[in-house]
Amino acid sequence: MLTLVLADSELELVPPEIQGHPAIRSYARKRGKSPAGILLDSSFHHPAMKRLEQGERRGRPDIVHLFMLLCLDSILNSEGRLKTIVHTRNNEMIMIAPETRIPKNYTRFVGLMEELFKAGRVPAEGSPLLTLEGGKDLKAVLEEVGGKAVAMDPAGKRVDLQDFLGKKKGDLTMIIGGFPHGEFNSPAKDLCKEMISIHEIPLKVWTVAAEVLVSYRQGASGKR
Ligand SMILES: C[S@@+](CC[C@H](N)C(=O)[O-])C[C@H]1O[C@@H](n2cnc3c(N)ncnc32)[C@H](O)[C@@H]1O
Repeated sequence: MLTLVLADSELELVPPEIQGHPAIRSYARKRGKSPAGILLDSSFHHPAMKRLEQGERRGRPDIVHLFMLLCLDSILNSEGRLKTIVHTRNNEMIMIAPETRIPKNYTRFVGLMEELFKAGRVPAEGSPLLTLEGGKDLKAVLEEVGGKAVAMDPAGKRVDLQDFLGKKKGDLTMIIGGFPHGEFNSPAKDLCKEMISIHEIPLKVWTVAAEVLVSYRQGASGKR
């Protein structure tokens, strides 16, 4: 079983310190929502985000959207061999049931995440497809998942991914940073036995996720 963790992902509601900014208020009004109940999104809230610490990397629900689509629509997931987890910059852990159908449409995805932040689970009744739990730093997430964890990092040890995964036995957890640039905020280096790089250039999150999802199956053929 492979567990893919998107760590330190830039998914959060608009923080209190910028909820009164005119750009946020007018965006919230257009959507008929309260500024406290909308996702921070750098495409729309850029002027207000200059005031935020690490504002240049925050507000990227699009990265989480693409990551979830790739994981949940993957062959590995359809074979029941993938667990998908999103960890956020504010130490929330989002568990995603493998049968979840993530909306392809970005606006609908944003609405779904806002519902999740509000209720802590989706759907509100019956067995949940998505659950959000606070107070889960990356260490707690990895303890909950168990197994060996490997972090993906452009500055890590260079490997041939298929070959690397083919040599791994048993359950494996791979961590990908869910931010557009910079380093992990969490102590990924201390929490993982290995940090690996799969190419000399820094890649997009979805490119790395796609490589892992395919290489895990190929490296695993006949071995797991
Ligand atoms: C878009 S990168 C952002 C970080 C990167 N330091 C940068 O400034 O471009 C997000 C994540 O993708 C993964 N990643 C990007 N390029 C990689 C590479 N060449 N090898 C392994 N992982 C990579 C890492 O997990 C990284 O945290």
